[in-house]
Amino acid sequence: MTGPTGKGARITAVTSGKGGVGKTFVSANLAAALARQGERVLVLDADLGLANLDVVLNLFPKLTLHDVFTGKTALEEAILPAPGGFSVLLAGSGMIEYSRMTPEVRDQLHDVIERVRPRFDHVLLDTGAGISDVVLYTVSLADELVIVATPEPTSLTDAYATIKVLASSQPLRPTHLLVNQAQRAGEGRVIRHQLQQVIDRFVNAGLEVPLQVDLLGEVPLDPAVRDSVLRRELLLEFAPGTPAAQAIVAAAARLIGR
Ligand SMILES: Nc1ncnc2c1ncn2[C@@H]1O[C@H](COP(=O)(O)OP(=O)(O)OP(=O)(O)O)[C@@H](O)[C@H]1O
Ligand SMILES: [Mg+2]
Repeated sequence: MTGPTGKGARITAVTSGKGGVGKTFVSANLAAALARQGERVLVLDADLGLANLDVVLNLFPKLTLHDVFTGKTALEEAILPAPGGFSVLLAGSGMIEYSRMTPEVRDQLHDVIERVRPRFDHVLLDTGAGISDVVLYTVSLADELVIVATPEPTSLTDAYATIKVLASSQPLRPTHLLVNQAQRAGEGRVIRHQLQQVIDRFVNAGLEVPLQVDLLGEVPLDPAVRDSVLRRELLLEFAPGTPAAQAIVAAAARLIGR
């Protein structure tokens, strides 16, 4: 499946509002699941100043997006193979220069995404938490959004706030909800319904075309997830038979319409 222009990758932003809900875990494992289904996938660590994707994948990158942005290395050199059969563009950690979006970084990020687009079927942007200008700009570059939320009220409030901010400042795009750390089967469906009701009431009232959020999947709370992160392995490799791994595989299939 290609992006809306038909010229290569579909760009998917994985975002959340609240931090620590599982964006990086979902991005890495969704990428592995898509790769297994034959897709050429790149995950870009868009948490530019506080990167984590390298940690989750047990990679020790010598070259990152920072080196591409500063001209120290060519883009091709910074695209690295990851254990799950996909590619990554990693970012640096503890870099104050990426705490705010500058015109230079905007242009460079935009340029990087346009240059990788023809080479992949799917590009996942693993964003940082919150609604900083860095996160909002990153999301603006995507063709579709995956909002990760846990059933906790604070996570849902932040997911809604993010959707509201995006709806008022950016074009509407296909928006999927992935409920992570679900404690009961069917919780994802209930949460999607609740979220849609609030969106209908407070966001869609002001829109010509209403925003409909669909449920991409429900990933259970599973101790194997924490264990896989501690071991710095993909869940899909560490414990492929677990319900959480199977839920990610199902979400990947849904994302590409299979
Ligand atoms: N389904 C799950 N079951 C159990 N634990 C989970 C699950 N999903 C995530 N976790 C735990 O939550 C931790 C945080 O996940 P992750 O780093 O992916 O969140 P994040 O949204 O990317 O955080 P940040 O906002 O800091 O980027 C994981 O290391 C893991 O221990
Ligand atoms: Mg993260």
